[in-house]
Amino acid sequence: MELQAIMEKRQSIRRYQEGGIPDADLEEIIKAAGSAPSGKNTQNWHFVAIKNRKIIQKIADAISAKNESICLEMDKVDKDKADRFRKFCKNFTVFWRDTAPAIIVTMATVYVPSGYNEYKLIGAEQEILLDLMGYRNPGMQSIGAACENLTLKAIDLGYGTCWLTSANYAAAEIEKVLKEETGFEREGFFFVNLFAIGTPQENQKSPAKKALEEVYTLVK
Ligand SMILES: Cc1cc2nc3c(=O)[nH]c(=O)nc-3n(C[C@H](O)[C@H](O)[C@H](O)COP(=O)(O)O)c2cc1C
Repeated sequence: MELQAIMEKRQSIRRYQEGGIPDADLEEIIKAAGSAPSGKNTQNWHFVAIKNRKIIQKIADAISAKNESICLEMDKVDKDKADRFRKFCKNFTVFWRDTAPAIIVTMATVYVPSGYNEYKLIGAEQEILLDLMGYRNPGMQSIGAACENLTLKAIDLGYGTCWLTSANYAAAEIEKVLKEETGFEREGFFFVNLFAIGTPQENQKSPAKKALEEVYTLVK
């Protein structure tokens, strides 16, 4: 498919047709992800694709359990907000539990930005160090590049994905299930997001995008 057509087709897909994804297609998708640029060419990613329904469900259940443990505490402070968080989890965090033929879990390593160790050496304030490591972190920018490649290649092969970070508060629980159920554990790697992937059902809505003037400034 032409790049322009793929970009126009891209939308978050939360409902899937029945049917699986061949291993070869997942491989193509991950190869595309791995061809992305990365800061200092660190390629600071590892993708774990899971097709096993029981393991997919265990991951979703670990997220739901974590969500409920937070909501039970929230109930004591604001029941409405707790119920909204429960609903959000059901609709936007674990919707793929019984329907997506596969999920792809993205693991990343820490990227120490240029200037960080140098600032540290000269005793810079914690705020400056956090700013460099956090908001502008190149490691996460590299992960974003790989994940967008993953997304676009999936569309090229006839699939749709939903990129999910709303389960990040359950990162430790997800890593635990991964280790127990798949044996996956790699020194220095931590969970950053997951993708639900499958052949899209039709008529899925996407929110409008900002106008060009709002996201673009041309200086001549
Ligand atoms: C970094 C990132 C995190 C996201 N996390 C979630 C998520 O946890 N759950 C979800 O349903 N959608 C998630 N999305 C999808 C966004 O909600 C979606 O991209 C946005 O609403 C625009 O819709 P569109 O992708 O259909 O154009 C995420 C997207 C990105 C890029």
